[in-house]
Amino acid sequence: MASLEVENGGDFKVPVFSSSSELLESLHEKWSSVKKQPYPAMYSSVYGGVILDPAMMVIPMDDHMVHRGHGVFDTAIILDGHLYELDVHLDRFLRSASKARVASPFPKSILRSILIQMTAASKCEKGSIRYWLSAGPGNFLLSPAGCPASAFYAIVIDDDFSQHKEGVKVVTSTIPMKSPLFATMKNVNYLPNVLSVMEAEDQGAFSSIWIDEEGYIAEGPNMNVAFISQDQELILPCFDKILSGCTALRLLQLAHKLVEQGRLKSIMTGNLIVEEAKNAAEMMYVGSTLPILPIVTWDEQPVGDGKVGELTKALSDLLWDDMVAGPVTLRIPVPYGK
Ligand SMILES: Cc1ncc(COP(=O)(O)O)c(C=O)c1O
Repeated sequence: MASLEVENGGDFKVPVFSSSSELLESLHEKWSSVKKQPYPAMYSSVYGGVILDPAMMVIPMDDHMVHRGHGVFDTAIILDGHLYELDVHLDRFLRSASKARVASPFPKSILRSILIQMTAASKCEKGSIRYWLSAGPGNFLLSPAGCPASAFYAIVIDDDFSQHKEGVKVVTSTIPMKSPLFATMKNVNYLPNVLSVMEAEDQGAFSSIWIDEEGYIAEGPNMNVAFISQDQELILPCFDKILSGCTALRLLQLAHKLVEQGRLKSIMTGNLIVEEAKNAAEMMYVGSTLPILPIVTWDEQPVGDGKVGELTKALSDLLWDDMVAGPVTLRIPVPYGK
């Protein structure tokens, strides 16, 4: 009888919330035990505004981004009350949306304004924002034809991050990477990326490196990868089959300073085979929330001398300085208190 009881869930009783206020009360109770609310604001075009109550930061179940993965997203860092590289991220966001055939409900200027106003309402001065364009709610079919309007969602994530000084261990991923069409757009289908990280974590590594079907170095599951060759060249894989990282592109611009100082010989993007990459003097992850994360061990072998390299540190400083005190065109001040 015991097994039958388990099958029937024993005494387990599913609560039925007869009103939204009853449900909200229960959600508020849950959130009240959380020390610091990690998401100080959300925007939803379904709500038509910014919401500060975490209990209400939800999206509809019949949104095609939820049950079909028909959506794209992007991010931006908030540092010292400024949004870094927001326009570059927004341009990529709209390119991703176009490839995924999701029409934005607003032009870029309005999306931008919503994100800035949401960040201001959040009062968050350090963290990140994340935003999505979705085919929208409507039904549970494949085609978005029955979805009356696409949807825009955004959230502020309160996060205390800093420059990475220590190196991490990585492994080569055995999870098949996405084909170029899907890898070059930042769509919400991150299952291969999730499995790739989990596979790395299973091996005690921080994350993984993808190698494409032609044997060239591709990227990490949520960051780009860069190398310093034994000849002091900065080399990044081409962006034609991977996500063109906003941080990697900025790094390629900023690194010229090190060439001028004679510390780097050259800067290039190209097809890099595994043997060349494994012979690199230095290796690092590059991504907006990092912005540089040194890699010191790859597939149980030391990268270079196995220590965080001087050029990696110099590149990390260049990017961090740019985030903190870069050009005003790249650092949008958030109008808190307006
Ligand atoms: C697959 C993938 N590659 C690269 C990146 C790095 O891009 P960015 O520098 O714009 O953050 C990301 C960022 O999320 C990513 O998901």
